[in-house]
Formats: sequence, C-alpha cells, structure tokens
Amino acid sequence: MSTDKIVFDRVTATFEVNGQPFHAVKDLSLTIADNEFVTVVGPSGCGKSTIMNMAAGLLIPSGGEVRVDDRPVKGPGPERGVIFQQYALFPWLTVRQNVEFGLKLKKISRAQRNEVVERQLELTGLTPFADALPKTLSGGMKQRCAIARAYAADPSILLMDEPFGALDALTRVHMQSQLLETWRQEKRTVMFITHDVDEAVFLANRVIVMAARPGRIHRIIDVDLPAERTEDLRTSPEFTAIRNEVWNSVYHQDPPPEAGAPAQHDPPDDPGGEGDQINKGIWSPTRHHNPGP
Ligand SMILES: Nc1ncnc2c1ncn2[C@@H]1O[C@H](COP(=O)(O)OP(=O)(O)OP(=O)(O)O)[C@@H](O)[C@H]1O
Ligand SMILES: [Mg+2]
Repeated sequence: MSTDKIVFDRVTATFEVNGQPFHAVKDLSLTIADNEFVTVVGPSGCGKSTIMNMAAGLLIPSGGEVRVDDRPVKGPGPERGVIFQQYALFPWLTVRQNVEFGLKLKKISRAQRNEVVERQLELTGLTPFADALPKTLSGGMKQRCAIARAYAADPSILLMDEPFGALDALTRVHMQSQLLETWRQEKRTVMFITHDVDEAVFLANRVIVMAARPGRIHRIIDVDLPAERTEDLRTSPEFTAIRNEVWNSVYHQDPPPEAGAPAQHDPPDDPGGEGDQINKGIWSPTRHHNPGP
C-alpha cells in the first residue's frame, strides 16, 4: 500500500485573462507522503494558493489531476481541513459556533463537541471571546478562530495558506510550536504555505520552492534538522545554512521573461494542449472564501 498522501500529477491551472489563456500553474508534479510536513514558499503570484485550492478540491485542474489517498480529488472532503489566506469565518456565527461547525456536521455528541471546542479555544487564546461575532475580532483573532475551527474537526490532512500571516510575532512563534506539537502527537499530513522563510524551515521536513510564470516547482530543499524543533534551533548554524539556501532560491530566482506582463500566453509548441481546459469562474472569489465542511 502506498504511503503517498497527496499527489499532484502534472497539474495545470489555466485561467482566461483578457481573453488569453494564462497558466497560473503548469505541469506541476509533487508527492507529499503520509505524515509529512511540507512548507511551500515562492514569490507572490507563483501559484501557491492555486495548488492548495486544487488539493482542497475547490479548483479543478485544467490538466493533470490531484489524488488524495490514491483517489482523484473531485471536491472538498472532511479529511482535508483548510485554512485560507483570507479569514473564512461564518459572520453570523459566534467564535464558539464557528469552531463547533465541523463537529456538528460530523454528528459528534454535544458533550464531546464542548470538550473539543473548549480545548481549541484555550489553545488559541480565544476563550474570553467565545461568544463574540467575527466582525468584533481583530485580524489575528479571526485567523486564530479559523485555525481552531480547522483543528477541531481533526482532519488527517491540513492545508494551510499563510495561516499565521496576520498574527503578532509572539503568537506566531507560539502557534508554530503548537502546530508542531499537534503534528507530533497525532500524526497528520500538512501542506503549509508561507512567505516567512524562517517559518518554512522551522516547521518542515521539506521546503518546496516555487517559481512564477508559469507557476512551477523551482527547487525542493530537504530540512535535515532534528525532529525535535526547539527555539534554540533557530539560531544554530545548521538552521541558518538551510534558511539561507531557501532564501536564495526564493529571492534570487531569475526574473521571469515577461516580468510585469499581465498575462502569459501559450508558446506555439505548448504541449499542454491536449485536455487542457481553461477555468472560467470555477474558482470564484466567493468559493475561495467558502470554508466548506
Ligand atoms: N480566478 C483567477 N483568474 C485569473 N487569474 C487567476 C485566478 N486565480 C489566480 N490567478 C492568477 O494565478 C497566479 C497565481 O495566483 P495564486 O493566488 O496561486 O498566487 P500565490 O502564489 O498564492 O500568491 P500570493 O503569495 O500573493 O498569495 C496569479 O498570477 C494570479 O493572478
Ligand atoms: Mg496565495
């Protein structure tokens, strides 16, 4: 039996921009093993959120396929918990009800729901705000609520798009340690997108560095550091060496040939032609914000 958890098999995401096809991601292949923790970094617009949305089942690839547990992804599923780049809370539900949402869908008993919800609220420091509506929360608090909701449903896969971006430095470090602790205790597969190179190295087994136009994998860097990630590690020479390697491969990439151009077109000999369709509105902003079950 395969230990591959998530497989991106030559996936392409093509959008129509100004009437022309634009490859947000092209022919990208990546296999994430069961219980692996990978982080994804790369310049803005290189397709990080696009590949995460494909794994989440919110965006159907124009070419190739994504498989989770050997089955092609056709839509969202409860085994995949998603934390979006933008806060995706139900505005009409309180913090507690947002966190409880997935548990209700799973028909978990009220007593058990309460126990899980209280633990997650405690973990994310939201207990005092349990009865508040999202509109009254700060950005960081909203994000912590989205994290609590994803963790509460206990998915085997966590797809996290810059989940800690809106947090203050101290909370961020705390949430990083907490996530690693949860990952160690109850093994799960994590795909974590970030712009923070230190965060990418601190958390991961492997760092996937992407490049833009078209979105693709530029390099994969193994993080050969002890499994136990302590705060001291952040200043060690081993950590710094890997951090510098990731930094250089993200920020010293060759500029794309048509940098600044609004869209990039198929070269005449584009092999992606066969079965390569254009996504028109399959991934609307509304769907992007929809947290799903
Ligand atoms: N629905 C869409 N229609 C047209 N173009 C799109 C659509 N969604 C994404 N794109 C384009 O695809 C490219 C990749 O977008 P994506 O959101 O995946 O980037 P990203 O790597 O997550 O960037 P960031 O780091 O800024 O979040 C961008 O050029 C973006 O403009
Ligand atoms: Mg993004």
